[in-house]
Amino acid sequence: MRNPTLPTDLGLQVELPTIMPRSKTRPSVHYTAAQRAIEEDPEIPYLTEQELVERIQQLRKERNAVILAHNYQIPIIQDLADFVGDSLQLAQQAAKTDADVIVFCGVHFMAETAAILNPERTVLIPDPEAGCSLAATVTAEEVRQWKANHPNGVVVAYVNTNADVKAEADYCCTSSNAVQVVQAIPEDKEILFLPDMFLGLYVQRMTGRKIHLWMGECHVHAGFRAEEIGDALRRYPEADLLLHPECGCVSQCMFALAAGDLPPERTYVYGTGGMVRHVRQSPAPIHLIATEVGMLHRLRKEAPNKQFIPVKADAICEYMKTITLPKLYRSLRDMVYEVRVEEPILSRARHAIERMLEIT
Ligand code: 13P
Ligand code: SF4
Repeated sequence: MRNPTLPTDLGLQVELPTIMPRSKTRPSVHYTAAQRAIEEDPEIPYLTEQELVERIQQLRKERNAVILAHNYQIPIIQDLADFVGDSLQLAQQAAKTDADVIVFCGVHFMAETAAILNPERTVLIPDPEAGCSLAATVTAEEVRQWKANHPNGVVVAYVNTNADVKAEADYCCTSSNAVQVVQAIPEDKEILFLPDMFLGLYVQRMTGRKIHLWMGECHVHAGFRAEEIGDALRRYPEADLLLHPECGCVSQCMFALAAGDLPPERTYVYGTGGMVRHVRQSPAPIHLIATEVGMLHRLRKEAPNKQFIPVKADAICEYMKTITLPKLYRSLRDMVYEVRVEEPILSRARHAIERMLEIT
């Protein structure tokens, strides 16, 4: 059977971009204000993990709150959440919840997406400094300049962007639907894809479309190397490889597949939600996971009888890990930190997100 995550023609050539990566300062989460508040709190440092869990359970009922968590969250947060998922699934859950409060355990742009889809509800994030190195690679002003240079361009913004950047976009997309979103744009349109160049290159190869790429990257995924992928597949000949499209080696892996150096029947490119669906139905006993390591907890829960091996054990997103049990408790207790997006950014960003949701 054809592998749906690879192009029909593996040898398909695409033009590589000529613009250079832009260097940006990566936001620091070394010691956040929320962490300081926990340490100075008169109650929280003295509570056991069990007590924190009990209080969270009590408060979520009292506040009619739903806890949404991304697949990269630490295990205890995933285990407590009402729903664990990828960026698209979390946005869809946020859009349909009837809870009064959404506590978003993930990074800031994800909570912002929930707030954009639910302006009438209270959206909280336990630590507002939980940023994203990829989202930090592009500003709204830079997008405006880029659009000015391509007046007929259609802007597709990956969900890993701040709300004011989404407001400049025609469409939003996530790792699970970027190919579909680009395919829905008429062939004669010029596409400006931002900010992840590796996802953009993957979409370019899958669709055969000429795409202008913003040269942003996620510091966690950019570090994956094609040699590590090849080595892992050789070491585990019975394993499937699941590769996130943000990985820095996705394009090289595509070339290696075309050259016959990687096996197309064992190599899959998926966002985190696609990885969950794959392991549920794949007969492979072992899966090699090329993404942030929080994913392994989720996959082990989904398929406890299968073995999951990280391709890069130090692929850890410090932004995702800033969300902890004490911060989740404080968030529900003190109703902090509220995430709000104001007009006119709200309506413009919402339009781009809704156009994506209509396609998927
Ligand atoms: P997913 O949408 O695949 O969960 O990815 C989100 C993300 O931040 C990947 O680094
Ligand atoms: Fe952002 Fe990368 Fe962390 Fe995902 S893994 S939230 S893209 S920094």
